Amino acid sequence: MLVIQKLTKQFPPAPPIFSDLDFTLDEGEYVALMGESGAGKSTLLNIIAGLEPASSGHLRLAGQSLLTENHQHDDDAATLFRRKSVGFIFQAFHLLPYLNVFENIALPLRLNGWSGHDITARVAEMLNAVGLNNKASALPRELSGGEMQRVAIARALSHRPKLLLADEPTGNLDPDTAAQVMTLLRTEIQRNGATAILVTHSEVSARSADRAVRLGKLGIVPRPI
Ligand SMILES: Nc1ncnc2c1ncn2[C@@H]1O[C@H](COP(=O)(O)OP(=O)(O)O)[C@@H](O)[C@H]1O
Ligand SMILES: [Mg+2]
Repeated sequence: MLVIQKLTKQFPPAPPIFSDLDFTLDEGEYVALMGESGAGKSTLLNIIAGLEPASSGHLRLAGQSLLTENHQHDDDAATLFRRKSVGFIFQAFHLLPYLNVFENIALPLRLNGWSGHDITARVAEMLNAVGLNNKASALPRELSGGEMQRVAIARALSHRPKLLLADEPTGNLDPDTAAQVMTLLRTEIQRNGATAILVTHSEVSARSADRAVRLGKLGIVPRPI
């Protein structure tokens, strides 16, 4: 599903954050990505998501190359592919504050050209899945942290992405809410047959994944969970 080869990222003049990273993720796999703060986990996710260019290397998603010869993102095919096939859950939720819960979850569907009828049905299904049926018309500021993160999960999965990227999705939540969100995430990933990368500092959260890896000085290495 995801093949990373010799991937290097540098913000000059600082030395590279990581260099010559190799990493492969099979279709349907759910991996926890761990590592020290500052190791480059968010940067790696951003490169995979097309939000940040690489300095060098190769990145293939579902057999499609997503970096051009000069390691920039290919803006046509790759952008389209990402919009359709990638879901992103950010640490700080990133809900759109002026859109209600329904419209936040509907956003990827609108961007992908779904019909109004299909959007209504799919958002209702996602609201049900994350237990927020009664919050469809609420604005993000009217929600608790756990509710906001459930909306973010519903939004990231609404368009049935092939690849889900989750950057410390429980970082801002209390342990009980975090455990609920992790269970929900795992269930929804399985239901969607999605491949997923979960960035987390939490041993407990990492255990919900199929395997864990660590990003550090030696690159991406397996890590026991
Ligand atoms: N836009 C940027 N410009 C310069 N340095 C950056 C930028 N983004 C991240 N960094 C640096 O890259 C390193 C890795 O950051 P990050 O990917 O956020 O790590 P992690 O998510 O593992 O904590 C940090 O030292 C950070 O300061
Ligand atoms: Mg980070």
